[in-house]
Amino acid sequence: MGTVRYGIVGTGYFGAEMGRSLAARPDAVVSVVHDPENARQVADELGARVAGTVEELCRDEDVDVVVVASPNWAHLEPVLLAAQAGKHVFCEKPIALSYRDCADMLEATTSAGVLFMAGHVTHFMAGVRRTKSLIADGVIGDVLFCRAVRTGWEDPKPSVSWKKQRELSGGHLYHHIHELDLVQSIMGPARVATMVGGNVAHQGATFGDEDDMLVISLEFDQGFAAMEYGSAFRWPEHHILIQGSLGAVRIDMREVGCEVRTPERAEQFLLHRTRQEDDERRGIQSDRGTDGPIIYGSPQDRPPRWLRGIIDEELDYFQGLVLGGEPLAEFAALTDGSAATAAIATADALTLSLRESRKVRIDEVTSRS
Ligand SMILES: NC(=O)c1ccc[n+]([C@@H]2O[C@H](COP(=O)([O-])OP(=O)(O)OC[C@H]3O[C@@H](n4cnc5c(N)ncnc54)[C@H](O)[C@@H]3O)[C@@H](O)[C@H]2O)c1
Repeated sequence: MGTVRYGIVGTGYFGAEMGRSLAARPDAVVSVVHDPENARQVADELGARVAGTVEELCRDEDVDVVVVASPNWAHLEPVLLAAQAGKHVFCEKPIALSYRDCADMLEATTSAGVLFMAGHVTHFMAGVRRTKSLIADGVIGDVLFCRAVRTGWEDPKPSVSWKKQRELSGGHLYHHIHELDLVQSIMGPARVATMVGGNVAHQGATFGDEDDMLVISLEFDQGFAAMEYGSAFRWPEHHILIQGSLGAVRIDMREVGCEVRTPERAEQFLLHRTRQEDDERRGIQSDRGTDGPIIYGSPQDRPPRWLRGIIDEELDYFQGLVLGGEPLAEFAALTDGSAATAAIATADALTLSLRESRKVRIDEVTSRS
């Protein structure tokens, strides 16, 4: 395959930017897009055609690969249709809003023999990559504990986005699946999950119906994790702290930067590729009391440079696989189904834990289907 032809389902804020990233490559084109509202303007910008339905896009002879960037609730249909049509698939996070749907997607893509990559873009942050390599090199010893926090405060909005509605986004837990994914990519799949929480400060017509405070504990074969998510926290935080037997690493996505500490050394390193990208992210976040922090935008809004940078890195890696490259060990979980499965199965177990006020073993979720 010389030039890879992409079809994009959902050309809103994120899908349009992925389209720009792909269209800028010498070895890719965006040939077809589908979106019930925003297709035409993005198609014109990218020089693509518009498909009237998801099925039409997936069957289009000018499409080799389908990128799914529709709202979270609308990922299943395009993934299954793309697999049926024998097309490789890149799917945005959260892959699905239930383990059952996620398993169906994996089964369909595996039996069709096509690539299925989970769009867990945080793996492509330079600081996350460096952290994983420090851990692999034994610098902090055995990982015993992780704490991940993604919190902020939500003010009333003139209209309520799908991102704030539980049925459509899954709420904070699924919509911000990155932390559940990263913690498990460091500690292995969780075995037992417990969650308490609820909607403590955001009822009424100007808010969605998601829980705004979620407090989580996870048990692993070795060690534990504690997590907090939500939009009912007036002191916003966004970080992952990884405690090992010999040292610790902190990845701070709000103060923006990373640090490793052992008895012998303390060293800071960047979260993104350059000091400018880190500074830009810090500046944007200190300007607003972001709720999550959640990103809203429209197709014509360009994401900040740090986000464009990781989109480029992620799609560059995916394109390499489409062209026949072998998966790298550090990203293998993104295409072998394990990252998607662990993230969604644990999210389902946590949801059940909250609903039934009990500890839930993850295999209770995975053995159901
Ligand atoms: N990886 C990340 O860090 C990251 C960041 C932002 C968004 N995302 C993910 O990307 C996806 C899109 O998010 P966004 O921020 O672009 O949202 P958005 O609301 O800006 O865009 C969604 C687009 O999907 C379209 N759409 C609605 N129903 C559809 C359907 N049935 N089929 C196809 N398109 C449909 C809408 O018209 C809209 O243009 C979500 O799954 C989101 O979680 C990921």
